[in-house]
Amino acid sequence: MTKQAQYPSLNDKVVLVSGGGSGIGASIVRNFAAQGARVAFLDYDRAASEALVTSLKEEGCDVLFAFCDLREIDDLRAAIASVASALGPITILINNAARDDRHSIESVTPEYWDERIATNIKHQFFAAQAVAELMKQAGGGSIINMGSTSWMIGQGGMPCYTTAKSAVQGLTRGLARDLGPHNIRVNTVVPGWIMTERQVEMWLTPESEKELMERQCVKRRLVPDDIAKFVLFMASDEASACSNQSFIVDGGWV
Ligand SMILES: NC(=O)c1ccc[n+]([C@@H]2O[C@H](COP(=O)([O-])OP(=O)(O)OC[C@H]3O[C@@H](n4cnc5c(N)ncnc54)[C@H](O)[C@@H]3O)[C@@H](O)[C@H]2O)c1
Repeated sequence: MTKQAQYPSLNDKVVLVSGGGSGIGASIVRNFAAQGARVAFLDYDRAASEALVTSLKEEGCDVLFAFCDLREIDDLRAAIASVASALGPITILINNAARDDRHSIESVTPEYWDERIATNIKHQFFAAQAVAELMKQAGGGSIINMGSTSWMIGQGGMPCYTTAKSAVQGLTRGLARDLGPHNIRVNTVVPGWIMTERQVEMWLTPESEKELMERQCVKRRLVPDDIAKFVLFMASDEASACSNQSFIVDGGWV
């Protein structure tokens, strides 16, 4: 018997995850598939995404991958329409994709600024706009926007990213009010430092790991599954009283 929590309300639900090809998104895809949900994900990393689909297929789970560069809003809208026509109305949206590329203040051009905003926040609004109509017709839904503790702890080295990530809070709170009467819940899940392949490859050093072990109350590396398990709960009916909120999952970083 499995020791993982099972949420009956997630069984058969149509779930869309942006940036589901790797990192936290891939873990979210896996975890929803294990709940018996019908899962689709959007990503522009074709190789990683196809590898995830194949590995899940070997485990007996079918998930749908739709190639999409989320910075292109027309493409995003078309991808959402194609997922809905293949799987049915989307009632759970996980707005997960982002990129924490580092950049100095001096290097930022107006074009780079726009590109970072498009990568890190703009698609969250337009995905929510598109699925909200489907959710209304289906009688409700849950939208989870992925935030970040980076701006809360005053992290430097990526002002475009931290600006966009702080705006996720405002987006959630703006949408939750308008969509609440349609039984659509909107929340932010805010990860701390989560050891994805990319984080380990690019940013983890012996010094930064030492700082992590000092600052986190929980003395272990956090992994994508730590976020995915919380996202499952937030998307399920067990969290039906939660909307318009932000939930930090960071191992108690101080
Ligand atoms: N890992 C962490 O420590 C951490 C900390 C705080 C917040 N977060 C947030 O969690 C979420 C997931 O982060 P992650 O660490 O798993 O990231 P990641 O870089 O490991 O994975 C992001 C995925 O999104 C995809 N993606 C990025 N831009 C895209 C685009 N324009 N079009 C289509 N696909 C695109 C990538 O191909 C990749 O598969 C993000 O919102 C991030 O801001 C992560």
